[in-house]
Amino acid sequence: MISKGIILAGGKGTRLRPLTNVLNKHLLPIYDKPMIYYPLCTLMLAGIKDILLITNPLDKVYFEKLLKNGEQWGISISYKLQVNPVGLVDSFLIGEKFLDGNSVALILGDNLFHGDGLIQKLLDMSKLRTGAKVLAYPVKDPERYGVVEFNSNGNVLSLSEKPKFPKSNYAITGLYFYDSTVVERSKQIKPSSRGELEITDLNNLYLDDNQLSVELMGRGMAWLDTGTFDSLYEASGYIRTLELRQGFKIACPEEVSWRNGWINDSQLVKLANSSISNDYSSYLMQLLEK
Ligand code: DAU
Repeated sequence: MISKGIILAGGKGTRLRPLTNVLNKHLLPIYDKPMIYYPLCTLMLAGIKDILLITNPLDKVYFEKLLKNGEQWGISISYKLQVNPVGLVDSFLIGEKFLDGNSVALILGDNLFHGDGLIQKLLDMSKLRTGAKVLAYPVKDPERYGVVEFNSNGNVLSLSEKPKFPKSNYAITGLYFYDSTVVERSKQIKPSSRGELEITDLNNLYLDDNQLSVELMGRGMAWLDTGTFDSLYEASGYIRTLELRQGFKIACPEEVSWRNGWINDSQLVKLANSSISNDYSSYLMQLLEK
């Protein structure tokens, strides 16, 4: 069972300026919660309690203020800095000590997952013992992502990063499960032509050793992008529509923790009472009544 997770929440957020001129992208709202709550809850739903958040020197203080050390949610959150956004693989170099030879799930701080069957999929993936597991999701614009090529039997032939001519419409999502060889393999990765330590190159190392498994996400699941003004707006709309219709919140860390049995009823009440009385705190109280 994978017990450690990394959330990568650095970068420059250039595509979202001026929204990100003073605020880290991962703190922007997705309807009623900061963006970072969503990937955090995805890791928690995968059963992961020991989490490292990597961000910029200037923004670390805001994440610490928001998420604290995780104890309030029955988890542990520690922090490390990435001074320059040199690529996603840097997570494992920065996180080497935190990982201490363990396997890991990495999630990008701007990735939102939701949908039927997701929790079971996450729990299954976190059982990984050797190799790597990633998720592929059909998109209309694969050239913006890491893309997978399958042969006619559905076996993975290759992965390429932002290809001009994608060989399928399946994008690799920003949630990755790796075995304990990840740090050693990451050290072999050289900067790409755009100067980044590419996660696709790391995945290709696993693929070359026949150690990569690509799981398809079905149409009933949502993998939402938050990288552009429109996708950010649409993600908020998606969450709002579901929450208003169902009366359940998506990516509420207090609830996930309580349902996982990591905090008890009285701790949940304490969390509800510790915030100003508003819709969010009433929601937490209602969970107990339901
Ligand atoms: O979202 C999935 C895609 O994420 C994958 O399909 C691609 O293979 C993968 O390369 C990545 O592509 P992006 O172009 O979306 O990556 P981006 O540079 O936007 O960074 C993703 C997140 O990671 C973003 O929230 C910022 C953060 N980041 C990025 C880099 C490069 C860091 O914190 N540090 C970094 O060095």
